[in-house]
Amino acid sequence: MDYLKSNADYWENGYTAPMVDHHVFRLYGRILKPYFKLPKKYTSLLDFGCGQGAAVNYYAGLKFDSYGVDISKFDIDVARHRFPGIANSFSLCDPKPLNNKHYGNLEKYDVITAFQSLYYFTRKDFEDLMEKLYSQLNKGGVFFATMMGTKSEEYFKNSKETDDDWLRCVNFTNSRYQCKDYYIFFTENQDELCNKFSMFKPMHLGWYSGKFTSEEGDGFHYTFCGVKE
Ligand SMILES: C[S@@+](CC[C@H](N)C(=O)[O-])C[C@H]1O[C@@H](n2cnc3c(N)ncnc32)[C@H](O)[C@@H]1O
Repeated sequence: MDYLKSNADYWENGYTAPMVDHHVFRLYGRILKPYFKLPKKYTSLLDFGCGQGAAVNYYAGLKFDSYGVDISKFDIDVARHRFPGIANSFSLCDPKPLNNKHYGNLEKYDVITAFQSLYYFTRKDFEDLMEKLYSQLNKGGVFFATMMGTKSEEYFKNSKETDDDWLRCVNFTNSRYQCKDYYIFFTENQDELCNKFSMFKPMHLGWYSGKFTSEEGDGFHYTFCGVKE
């Protein structure tokens, strides 16, 4: 199963997200500003799986020195085109974590975010990825990720096991789009969430969800905010 290639092909179709979603600006208003007093005079930020770059641009506007990486050349091109003033802040990365010396323009960051982008891996690739992201976070740095839960029923119920104990293959069609050979793993509850990110000291756990048509399932995601001690 070449799941990384299948996922890379999937994302080459692009993920239309011209504005930041609410969890992106709520992270700032509800956590980074009140609890961490960020940004300070200089605060670097990496957005892993930045897609079309809206979050990177949003945090740049708040005076974070922000960078984004993604495997989708299509989306990185859209991001550079849409935000020409910070075009050099976007870079393409390899789908396989071990093939990246480091992510983004800097070796270390004060904040690392991953909005809906950390569940596309086998257990082993995820562990390699987390080791890398952990090593790229400064001591005292903030890590924030949003992870799809099993409560995202349309995805979960239409998924099948693979030969990896985490990864499942999702296939379904609704009026809006066709989800074909989409490889992800799901998070069952907050304990599991904390286990996945056990290298960080958990600070804030939460979730968000959204449902816009009766036909589609809801988009339940857990949120994890932790600190590198
Ligand atoms: C659901 S989209 C979210 C995009 C963006 N974070 C947002 O919220 O608009 C998931 C993103 O993860 C990226 N992605 C998937 N697998 C990846 C990998 N192995 N390495 C880096 N990015 C990956 C995809 O290309 C895609 O842009």
